[in-house]
Amino acid sequence: MSTLLIIDDDVAICRTLLVHFRSLSHQVITAHNINDGLVAAAGNAIDLILLDNQMPIKSGIESLADFREVVPDIPIIMITAYHDMETTIVAMQNGADDYIHKPVDINELDQAVERALLRSDEESTNLKFQEEDHNKRRNSRFSMAGHSSAMRQIYKTIGLIANKPVTVLISGESGTGKELVARAIHEASSRRNGPYVAVNCAALVETLLESDLFGHEKGAFTGAVNKHSGKFAMAQDGSLFLDEVGELSPSIQAKLLRVLQEKEYIPVGSTKLIQSNARIIAATNDNLEEKVKLGLFREDLYYRLQVVNITIPPLRERKEDLMDLIRTLLGRINREMHNSVCRLSMDVIDAFNNYRWPGNVRELENILTKAVALSPSDTITLDLIPEYISARENNPIESGLPIHTSLDEMEKYHVARVLNATHWHKGESCKILGVSRPRLRRIIKQHQLTNPEGNELDENDNDDITESELVEQ
Ligand SMILES: Nc1ncnc2c1ncn2[C@@H]1O[C@H](COP(=O)(O)OP(=O)(O)OP(=O)(O)O)[C@@H](O)[C@H]1O
Ligand SMILES: [Mg+2]
Repeated sequence: MSTLLIIDDDVAICRTLLVHFRSLSHQVITAHNINDGLVAAAGNAIDLILLDNQMPIKSGIESLADFREVVPDIPIIMITAYHDMETTIVAMQNGADDYIHKPVDINELDQAVERALLRSDEESTNLKFQEEDHNKRRNSRFSMAGHSSAMRQIYKTIGLIANKPVTVLISGESGTGKELVARAIHEASSRRNGPYVAVNCAALVETLLESDLFGHEKGAFTGAVNKHSGKFAMAQDGSLFLDEVGELSPSIQAKLLRVLQEKEYIPVGSTKLIQSNARIIAATNDNLEEKVKLGLFREDLYYRLQVVNITIPPLRERKEDLMDLIRTLLGRINREMHNSVCRLSMDVIDAFNNYRWPGNVRELENILTKAVALSPSDTITLDLIPEYISARENNPIESGLPIHTSLDEMEKYHVARVLNATHWHKGESCKILGVSRPRLRRIIKQHQLTNPEGNELDENDNDDITESELVEQ
């Protein structure tokens, strides 16, 4: 049994959460403004705080620092209607331990509470408050779009690790946004005023890459007319992004391992040890683990690189991000082209939803750029996108199900497909299908759908609070 402090100016939500957490045998204290919340936090033995962001006078995020002063080690879960990258990162950096979005999914909240209580049992977390002008960063050109649970998790991770001296390995298919994540980590870190230096490890032959990274002495090799200091030196006090790190040759792998372990290296043709404090962020679209197994990548280096691992799923696995991405990318493209194409016809949206996007966000960006350039109006119409995207065979309904399929069978097929795509996350599935949770439950029962991943379907279902009770008014 733990004691939870719920701070929300919405009395109805407070009550609903109070009833829910009492039914789980927790003690609950509620407060309806930040001041009362701070007093309650200071005066009681609290184990966890649920803090709503939107409050009169001072927001939850703005008051995180005050809570951190009063209760430095108590986990705080923020509840907010904002779920863009910047707000999540700032919340995590200001000391929130987790971040839940409105409308609240009760399963998600329960899991977050359990996780936070467990974590605070194991260690006492005390993330440092960072003075931050986050409005400035909100408009940053490195902003990422996407509110899928995978992307939200990535924003949280960025917020948590940006200021920790750990190496990060970002993996994902080509065009998923690895470089953007690297940039976001740099921008969210205290090194943001230092240099951000990017190197593509696959672009240069081994000898040139070695001197490009570590520098060389004058005359170190033919063509080395002048002394060159290299990217590690350039990235001093900043971040060094090693793109396509899986392509490094064995000898450079060895040298990189040394920098990671000893924080020092020797330029080509020199005998002098140089100190490096560059923060390394690496990216790969290879399966590095596989490369390690095949003996193509050093195992010790792999473990050094992936102290924190961020995997960006391909776009086809997070189609719910599509519209958000389109909006952001169109804004960017229109600005660059001094254009104002801001609509998509319905058939284009359908075609985009049905397409697999093998080139991920970069492919989407290229298609939109071409369409904006060619569009005679403010709308992207079907004739402006390539035929392989608008082709009918991409449409799973037209291609996958025979004409004599009944509506009932269609429902079963489609609901099963959505549930599997969300790993049976019922909140997400309800959102995609546009149905309430009780209706989804009925459909699952009616068609006897089962979770192939084996989690008991009903384990999260015995809550007697309906989602609508928790939806923000
Ligand atoms: N979540 C996102 N929001 C906005 N733009 C994005 C997002 N993800 C990717 N992009 C854009 O898509 C393009 C490709 O992204 P990026 O270069 O980061 O991909 P990558 O994973 O590094 O690809 P590669 O493996 O081919 O190097 C960039 O123009 C980037 O700005
Ligand atoms: Mg890249």
